[in-house]
Amino acid sequence: MDLKPELLSVLQGNTKKFVGPKSLPAFLKLVQSTVGTTFPEADPRRLVSQLRKEDFFARMIRLRSQIKDNPVVPQTFSPIWQELGLDPHEIYLDAIRIRCVPARFQEIEAAGPVAFIHRDPWYANPQCQFNLWIPVYSVPKEAGFRIYPSYFNQPIPNNSNQFDYRKWLDAGGFQSANNSSSKPQLFPSPDFDPIEPSPLDVFADEGEMFLFSSHHLHGTSPNTSGFARFSLEIRFVLESHLTNRIGPEKIDNRSQGSTLSHMYRLTDSRPVPDQLIKHYERKFDFHQNKSDSLARLR
Ligand SMILES: [Fe+2]
Repeated sequence: MDLKPELLSVLQGNTKKFVGPKSLPAFLKLVQSTVGTTFPEADPRRLVSQLRKEDFFARMIRLRSQIKDNPVVPQTFSPIWQELGLDPHEIYLDAIRIRCVPARFQEIEAAGPVAFIHRDPWYANPQCQFNLWIPVYSVPKEAGFRIYPSYFNQPIPNNSNQFDYRKWLDAGGFQSANNSSSKPQLFPSPDFDPIEPSPLDVFADEGEMFLFSSHHLHGTSPNTSGFARFSLEIRFVLESHLTNRIGPEKIDNRSQGSTLSHMYRLTDSRPVPDQLIKHYERKFDFHQNKSDSLARLR
């Protein structure tokens, strides 16, 4: 498989669902066994809804760390990059992250931000970022997420102007819904529900992968499947895209800061050089005229 020639079209809004390469099953097995040791009493997809909220949160904190911080996880994923036709020397990413979306989470008021529709760049993610979404177990349509393709090139009023990456880190950073920080986190979202004639519902069988641009407007769908959804998210950029300042325009993103400052090259863990971050982000500065036209939309 060679994804490289398709990456530019993905940054123009195309999405790609495909069967993962031959090293994917071994990687999934490692992740599934980690999930299994976190929820050993029964099938984790069923068990989650039987646990007390506090117990579930505590287990998820442990599970997230075991996936994000265990070097064996990216090592086991390493051959997959090559099999996808991507050069590991070119790739920067922050981490491999796991998420669990419990069945009927939408009925819990405190879980509201889980379903917020957003573009990742509203959370200071770079404009050229790719999201590789991988189900840990098969995810049916009733437990997936939704993309709003019409908004790829169309702005939608939102409160990303209130998002500052440094403040976000002070309040606990990503995957911190249950952190101990007393500082409130701001979750950017649109001012109104998108009007989308052709939504794209994303779901996939175990062994499949889904690639899309982080700039797509998207959000977790209500989980009506009766099972918890476990999925992995890998957000990455290519060095050449930073150097050549490639990526969709900031049509409605006014967040401050850049998560590029916490991305590391796969091969040597080198952070993205500050100069390269500045070089890239300067191209995408949200110009005053765009800001004005957006203000008129509000
Ligand atoms: Fe997202």
